[in-house]
Amino acid sequence: MKITFSASAGTGKAKAKHAIVVTTTDALTLGTEAKAIDKATKGAVAKALKSSRFNGKAGECLSVAGVDGVAGDRVVVLGLGKAKEFDAIAAENAGGQLVAHLNGVAVKSAELILDTVKGAKIDDGEAAARAAFGAYLRAYRFDKYRTKLKDDEKPSLGALKLVSAGTKAAKEAYAELEKVADGVYLARDVVNEPGNVIYPETLADECKKLTDLGVKVEVLNEAKMKKLGMGALLGVGQGSVRESQLVVMRWEGGKKSDQPVAFVGKGVTFDTGGISIKPSNGMEEMKFDMGGSGTVIGLMKALAGRKATANVVGVVGLVENMPDGNAQRPGDIVTSMSGQTIEVLNTDAEGRLVLADALWYTQDRFKPQFMINLATLTGAILVALGDTRAGVFSNNDELCDKLNKASEKTGEKLWRLPLGDEYDKMIDSPVADMQNIGADRIAGSITAGQFLQRFVNDVPWAHLDIAGTGWTKKDQPTTPKGATAYGVRLLNTLVQDFYEK
Ligand code: BES
Ligand code: MN
Ligand code: ZN
Repeated sequence: MKITFSASAGTGKAKAKHAIVVTTTDALTLGTEAKAIDKATKGAVAKALKSSRFNGKAGECLSVAGVDGVAGDRVVVLGLGKAKEFDAIAAENAGGQLVAHLNGVAVKSAELILDTVKGAKIDDGEAAARAAFGAYLRAYRFDKYRTKLKDDEKPSLGALKLVSAGTKAAKEAYAELEKVADGVYLARDVVNEPGNVIYPETLADECKKLTDLGVKVEVLNEAKMKKLGMGALLGVGQGSVRESQLVVMRWEGGKKSDQPVAFVGKGVTFDTGGISIKPSNGMEEMKFDMGGSGTVIGLMKALAGRKATANVVGVVGLVENMPDGNAQRPGDIVTSMSGQTIEVLNTDAEGRLVLADALWYTQDRFKPQFMINLATLTGAILVALGDTRAGVFSNNDELCDKLNKASEKTGEKLWRLPLGDEYDKMIDSPVADMQNIGADRIAGSITAGQFLQRFVNDVPWAHLDIAGTGWTKKDQPTTPKGATAYGVRLLNTLVQDFYEK
């Protein structure tokens, strides 16, 4: 979908399948621009408002088709919600919902005429940029394998023009946001791909493509990882015919002397559970088990795309967890790169084994200011927090504070859960330094966090469990169903607000 900005609305003859979109808050009053459109349509807009249940909630759309007197054949009133609450997130959501509405009524092009919202938290320029961002994020599709889509199943909307008094500022802000959206699109693409297409080597190939943007990319194969002693990660991949990979991506946008920040992703390209095999019902969802690495890859693209002035390391551990004659057995004891030994009581608790070596390697090699890892780690986080909030586990209050601030801005929600000795004890093993699951099923997300903490070596660290937020079964305002790319916007904002000049 093409997005443009302009200071003036279209004039002239009515274009077919072209929508003129005006806005209102929940007060249902029409601003200057909306009034002008109402007048041109001989009061059709005001009349439609009166005879409908439309109440101007953020993202609500009222469509009036077959109008005369304006440059399109349809007028849509887009709700922006409460004026006082109109902020960047509301603008994004409104833009996103508008796109869904227009695609639903076969509109091919549209212009969104944004009236100034008095008392809002953002100005005209930001409102336009954010509405555009939301629109673009919602326009994402993963249709490449649908060869028989009928015309009415394809998205109709090809172009959206944003008309506002803040065009110059909007263009500038959107230029950056577009790079973030590119990162979101890449993350969604790799996560939506099935396991027969995206496996460790092909996902590593996707990482290598980031060299075009100036990212330095190194791929460690099994032989290299073996030399480094990464027995925990390698054990998970040993039942797969696909070779495990560890990819290191580096964006050096800061000063040479700036200590890097690091992001680490779980990249289980398919999680069958291994010998502790999962039930077949719903197992297909485990193609999303590389969601954490998808976010890290998308984040690197966003940061490099907008030339972030920080040194950032992205590390993804890529493996496929399969049952096989050579697969890891329950009870196996593996030695991690840190030297610590792990009794693998359940081969389905594999993400933490992958991250154990990826985290240790990252802190050992890069001595980062902080490490944040993302992982679709536990089903238990879905039980605790549902699918709208990621769980956060951390050894550092300041880092959590910054994460919360970034989260407020992007709307990707978080909730911190505890860590502590009483939980740490639960993963002590009678035969090795630790076991990969707790004794009972209790505190399952926390014991997983506790396990990871044994591999961070006191570096400020946060673990985001995105098993609930990594994909969505329902369309959301700025996210169509499927992979969400949760965390790309959040961590981009974290870097931008706290770690750039
Ligand atoms: N990838 C799963 C976690 C998961 C579950 C992600 C549901 C998304 C949706 C992870 O590898 C796993 O299997 N975890 C086990 C851990 C258990 C064996 C201690 C789980 O959550 O059941
Ligand atoms: Mn598993
Ligand atoms: Zn998994």
